[in-house]
Formats: sequence, C-alpha cells, structure tokens
Amino acid sequence: MKIIRTASYEEMSGRAAGILTAQVALKPNSVLGLATGSTPIGTYKQMIAAQKAGLVDFSAAVTVNLDEYAGLEPTHDQSYRWFMQQNLLNHINILPQNTHVPQGTAANLDEECARYEALIAGYGGIDMQLLGIGHNGHIGFNEPDDCFAPITHKVSLTQSTINANKRFFESADDVPRQALTMGIGTIMAAKKVLIIASGAEKADILSRAFCGPVTPQVPASILQFHPDVTLVADADALAGFPQ
Ligand code: F6R
Repeated sequence: MKIIRTASYEEMSGRAAGILTAQVALKPNSVLGLATGSTPIGTYKQMIAAQKAGLVDFSAAVTVNLDEYAGLEPTHDQSYRWFMQQNLLNHINILPQNTHVPQGTAANLDEECARYEALIAGYGGIDMQLLGIGHNGHIGFNEPDDCFAPITHKVSLTQSTINANKRFFESADDVPRQALTMGIGTIMAAKKVLIIASGAEKADILSRAFCGPVTPQVPASILQFHPDVTLVADADALAGFPQ
C-alpha cells in the first residue's frame, strides 16, 4: 500500500483529485468507482477545477457509485444520486448516460443489485475505486459482519450508521433502513483503490484497518490484500501509523 501523508484536508483533496484526473488522462474511458460522504467533497471540487482549467476531459469516462439508499428518489436531496449530481457530475463534461448509481427505488432491489453487478462487469470492471471509510471500518455500506459480502447486495443499516447519518435528515426516523451497496468482492476486483481520510476522528479506525488483523469485523481491513491501494490521508487521520 502506498501512503500519502498530507498536512491538511485541502492537500488531501488536491492529491486525490490529481490521482483520479491522472487516471482519466492516461485512460480517457476509465471506469471510476466513486463515493459519497463528506470526505470526497473537496476532491470533487478539485476535479471540477481541473476540468474547467482544461487539464482533464471526462467525455469518455464512466462513473459507478458505491451505494445508494433504498427508497429515495434520485431527486431526494439525501439520495446519493442527488449528492453526485450536485457535487461533481453536473459540473464536469461527463455524459449523463455514463454515470451510474444503484437505483434505490427499483421495484425489485435484488434484481437491481444483480443488474448493477453485471453493468460493472460489462464495462470490464472498475479501473480506480475511490473510497472513504466509516468510523466502524465500513466501506460502501459494507458494515462489520461475520463474512465479507462478495457482490452488490441489499443491506440493513446498523444503528451506528443510522446515528452517523441522521444529521442529514430531519430525524433518525427519516433515515432509510436499507441500502444497496457494491460488495467487498466488487470493490476488491477494482484494478486500483484510492482511499481518503481526514481528521483525528478517523485515526483509530485507519490504524485498526491497515495496521491490525484482516477481519470482516473491520471491512476496510480486506484492502491489505489488494495489490494496488493508495491511502491519501492527513496527518491527524494518520496519527496511529508509524511516523
Ligand atoms: C459513501 C460511502 C461510505 C462513506 C463513509 C465515510 O458512498 O460509501 O462508506 O465513505 O461513511 O463517510 P464520510 O466521508 O462522511 O466520513
């Protein structure tokens, strides 16, 4: 694993955006796996700036997002499709038909998971997957469990994730109880993984995930077995790593 230690969130965002835009510059039809959450917002801002400056062209690129809440319309302001449109996709020259997020309002969620997994395979897999990390080590909506989920699947959110996400809704009761997420196997099949983290509150989980044992109780720990992982994190998040 390559570790890039930055002094600040802004620097982390710039380094991550540089890696993603270099991927697209080298392979214009790259399939980028993308994440939502607060961590990638700065990365997306820098990707938008790079495109506006003419440094990268997304017109042949494809995006596939990690996850989506079950039951939220794409126009719901807490849906992950809405997040992606607002924070990145509306502002770059990517073709709308080349952007994909699992459909949380599909009539049959199991069929939607199978369709999504097949869609990724049809593109030849993910070239670079961007990830954040949850406080419990989740990646996508893959929560601590007794085994690693192989493919895109439907999950019930844990109370810890409902609590973490309720700040975005009027109340905890409004947080959807289910979601669709790429599996750990889907993520591990990506050719490259780029994981970003910022702030002291991620220090404990980052060291458990990357300096501790590989276990499905810390889903991100499986990335220790991926052959091409880059971790870009600020010094606060890396406080538990050897200096
Ligand atoms: C979002 C996602 C989640 C987040 C994680 C960290 O698509 O897959 O696993 O990456 O919850 O979220 P933030 O960045 O808000 O700390």
